[in-house]
Amino acid sequence: MSDWISFYDFKHSVIYVNARHRDVHYRAIANDIRGYVPSPSAHALDYGCGEATSAELVADACAQLILVEAAPNVRASLTMRYAGHPKIAVITSEQAAAQPPGSFDLIVLHSVAQYLGAAELDRLLAVFRRLLKPDGLFVIGDIVPPKLAAPAAALTLLRVGAANGFFWAAAFGLMRIFVSDYLRLKKTVGLSHYEEAAMLAKLEAAGFTAQRAPRNIGHNQWRMTFLARPV
Ligand SMILES: C[S@@+](CC[C@H](N)C(=O)[O-])C[C@H]1O[C@@H](n2cnc3c(N)ncnc32)[C@H](O)[C@@H]1O
Repeated sequence: MSDWISFYDFKHSVIYVNARHRDVHYRAIANDIRGYVPSPSAHALDYGCGEATSAELVADACAQLILVEAAPNVRASLTMRYAGHPKIAVITSEQAAAQPPGSFDLIVLHSVAQYLGAAELDRLLAVFRRLLKPDGLFVIGDIVPPKLAAPAAALTLLRVGAANGFFWAAAFGLMRIFVSDYLRLKKTVGLSHYEEAAMLAKLEAAGFTAQRAPRNIGHNQWRMTFLARPV
């Protein structure tokens, strides 16, 4: 499903209707991720972090934050944004997989699993299982259930737009997404959907004990977040 990486490899993805939307989105995510940082000495990994414009909020709460982004232009822009930040490093997927076992107290995979095939996600779960400390926490968020995914995403965008002063930009942005490559890729490459039980079974098969979190990270509460710990 690597075409999705190309889709996201713009300096600013069409998924964000304007800079305000992008910043509201990433601030909400960073605040939620920050809530999962177990201690100020924690080492955290945010895999598939996207533009991560509020990553310093997470970094403030931990000892080190590693941002992993597969899309090269997004990664270059992250590297520039956080150059000189004492706690943030930006690395590739390959560099992440090569980290020593037990490196992280917290690993987050948010809004990425839908772009991975089932086998690709299994491979990544095995990497995370190895990289996590025995008492570490793996948070997998924005898991998209099969039903009503598109209307839920559209409604969430309009609500966030209305609440943050960019309703019309959100409405226009929806049309822009409609004519972008998103729908073509959705048809040809596909998106992965999981029911709650299916994701719990997948995490269990990967060596975690997991439960669904009371709320999803970010704005879309039709989607699900799961909290997983090594067995
Ligand atoms: C919707 S963005 C999520 C960004 C951020 N985590 C967030 O929650 O806003 C999807 C991310 O998945 C990444 N991605 C898509 N396919 C991938 C793959 N096969 N391997 C690694 N990352 C992938 C993209 O590069 C992009 O950063």
